[in-house]
Amino acid sequence: MIIVLAQTKGGVGKTTLAVNLAVARSVAGSDLLLVDADEQATASDFTAIRTEKLGSPGYTAIQLSGSAVRTQVLQLAAKYDDIIIDAGGRDTSGLRAALTVANVAVVPFQPRSFDIWTLDKVARPHCRSAQLQPDLAGVGGAKLRRRTGRRQRSGCDSLEQC
Ligand SMILES: Nc1ncnc2c1ncn2[C@@H]1O[C@H](COP(=O)(O)OP(=O)(O)OP(=O)(O)O)[C@@H](O)[C@H]1O
Ligand SMILES: [Mg+2]
Repeated sequence: MIIVLAQTKGGVGKTTLAVNLAVARSVAGSDLLLVDADEQATASDFTAIRTEKLGSPGYTAIQLSGSAVRTQVLQLAAKYDDIIIDAGGRDTSGLRAALTVANVAVVPFQPRSFDIWTLDKVARPHCRSAQLQPDLAGVGGAKLRRRTGRRQRSGCDSLEQC
């Protein structure tokens, strides 16, 4: 399965989810490829630290950008059980390329008004990509944070059909 963490709003937990999914899937036995398509390269930094601590991260990690996200992921798809793409926090050609090859787009967001208002804008590149990748499924997930000592309820809904 090819999963892209796709949200144009920054700081919503894309990289945190990407690296945790990568570790969880690889620990479960999946031959996993983590694609860092964000120029901030936080997922790559995480992988470097994990390699330093453990000797091996347990998965393969590469950096890609722009249209190479599509071409290289298509090239590598048959070689891996799962591919996870951290597409960064802006509407880039890399994000759009990722959306054309992914089976699932996970869209984390903070459960606050301004953040929820951006979801329509995020859905636009998804809808364009859905024409190239009709099987693309979108999943929205609310970022949890502790407030007033109580853990907020998580939200997870499918994005509306394009
Ligand atoms: N579920 C969560 N609950 C609380 N804090 C979180 C959660 N997920 C991530 N964070 C924290 O939120 C911050 C931003 O997370 P992260 O870097 O994963 O976001 P991002 O969407 O990848 O950001 P960017 O758009 O800059 O790439 C980090 O400090 C991270 O530790
Ligand atoms: Mg990030």
